[in-house]
Amino acid sequence: MKFYIATDHAGVVIKESVKAYVISRGHEIVDLGPFNEERVDYPDFAKKCAYSVLEDKGSFGILICGTGIGISISANKINGIRAGLCHDAYTASMCRAHNDANILCFGQRVVGMGVIENMIDAFCDTAFEGGRHSGRVDKIECSFGNNF
Ligand code: RB5
Repeated sequence: MKFYIATDHAGVVIKESVKAYVISRGHEIVDLGPFNEERVDYPDFAKKCAYSVLEDKGSFGILICGTGIGISISANKINGIRAGLCHDAYTASMCRAHNDANILCFGQRVVGMGVIENMIDAFCDTAFEGGRHSGRVDKIECSFGNNF
């Protein structure tokens, strides 16, 4: 699988460990920044990742901020993005199986590397179930299109 990863300043420290784990599992990952702990605004990095995922069909994203909340809210404003804010392997698996999530989000201040590894595995190993979930996922899209 191919991933794009972005964070804000409150997610940047764990980014290197996350990248290393994703690579160790045989996946590709493109780092969209930031590259230091200077304060930045999470919507800017959510958008970078979201548009990269939309432009590169079949790719996925990982977004990290302090809680995962701001960066997931931001990504979900973009049509075609389904960013799942996850806290454990169950939520990471279900956001793929039922919601066809294309971005995995979590908080650096919330989960540690052990849980993150389990979430990445669950996200990667779970396919969208389709069926009754397809119509629901279709209804998520905003008929007014993207505002950015
Ligand atoms: C930054 O301090 C923090 O507010 C941000 O990373 C995130 O947790 C917001 O949702």
